[in-house]
Amino acid sequence: MPFAHITGWGISVPEPVLTNEDVSKMVDTNDEWIRSHTGIHERHIARENEFTSTLAVEAAIKALQSANLAPTELDLIIVTSSSPEYIFPATACLVQDQIGATKAGAFDLSAACSGFIYATNMAAQAIRSGSIKNALVIGSETLSRFTNWKDRNTCILFGDGAGAFVLQASDKPGGLLSAVMHSDGSGADSLTLLGGGARYPATETTIHEGKHFIQMDGKAVFRFATRVMGQAIKESLDLAGLKLDDVQWIIPHQANYRIIETAAKLLKTPLEKFVINIERYGNTSTASIPIATVEAVEAGRVKPGDKIAFVGFGAGLTWGAMVVEWTGSIPAKKQVHPEQYRLFARLRSFVRRALRFIEGFFSRREL
Ligand SMILES: CC(C)(COP(=O)(O)OP(=O)(O)OC[C@H]1O[C@@H](n2cnc3c(N)ncnc32)[C@H](O)[C@@H]1OP(=O)(O)O)[C@@H](O)C(=O)NCCC(=O)NCCS
Repeated sequence: MPFAHITGWGISVPEPVLTNEDVSKMVDTNDEWIRSHTGIHERHIARENEFTSTLAVEAAIKALQSANLAPTELDLIIVTSSSPEYIFPATACLVQDQIGATKAGAFDLSAACSGFIYATNMAAQAIRSGSIKNALVIGSETLSRFTNWKDRNTCILFGDGAGAFVLQASDKPGGLLSAVMHSDGSGADSLTLLGGGARYPATETTIHEGKHFIQMDGKAVFRFATRVMGQAIKESLDLAGLKLDDVQWIIPHQANYRIIETAAKLLKTPLEKFVINIERYGNTSTASIPIATVEAVEAGRVKPGDKIAFVGFGAGLTWGAMVVEWTGSIPAKKQVHPEQYRLFARLRSFVRRALRFIEGFFSRREL
């Protein structure tokens, strides 16, 4: 059975920064309160012309560059997002078209902030089964578009960004060692974005009622998160036949510094073992785990051979964890340039649209 290795990684974060100071000009809050209650100092916010797919494509290209893999080699693209570009088509299909992943299947996975754990596990299992060889998993968010900037309960928390992993099959042991996924829909009302779905399609009333914004019972989510984080990590470690001492790093979903601190206490593990960067990004939902990972890899903290426990939790309710042996870059025989495929992809997309138009024109004449 092949192993599923993480061989590429990349992030994309919009440039504009919104500090706590800036937020305190919009709602009745202040820097001190936000820092002490969440650990967040600032977050990045997408520009008007940046979308979930824009960030996803940039992160994807960087991940393919570090894996030295051409997009045409991809068999599968999973985009996980709590702020997908549309209900449909899937954001993953927009990415597939823009990066020129000509043979890849593409779909979106919705599991809120646990999405990156779920998606990486799904891609890894597809590789482990032998049905595919190369997969791209992306967590991408423009949550600022669904944030009520008049609600101090939520607007202090979220930020925009994207992160991606490339997973590849190899006979060499390593890569994803274990994963667990859980859900509890009885807590569905704790964290919601109700508007725009089939139950509350967009109407003047739904907009007036603010149903197109994130709504949250912060305390309930806090209690849930601290309860499940440690459990999920332990379960995943058990499945991998490892102990907490065997892992060099724990990379948690970055929702709140205090949640991570409490989880560390419950696990009786020093906070230094946790990769934390929430202070600069806020909660970027599905993107938070890959953003934290890539920063830690690029800073030389995470090294090949390190064992890492990843843990996520979020709306649904959903939660999950996975244990990975970090592979790092695979030495390349020949350099590929995934970014150059974008031009080809644009041309290909244009030609296909033109052919579809011509086909439509002639089939109309035949009718
Ligand atoms: C949202 C969260 C930071 C609120 O922190 P908290 O300690 O629970 O704060 P509370 O809601 O109890 O509010 C405490 C007080 O601060 C006030 N307050 C709430 N938000 C405030 C803000 N942004 N600025 C200043 N004061 C604020 C409240 O009105 C309350 O005042 P009161 O005591 O006079 O009534 C915290 O509950 C949390 O992080 N929950 C998890 C959220 C999360 O991670 N969601 C995503 C999961 S993927």
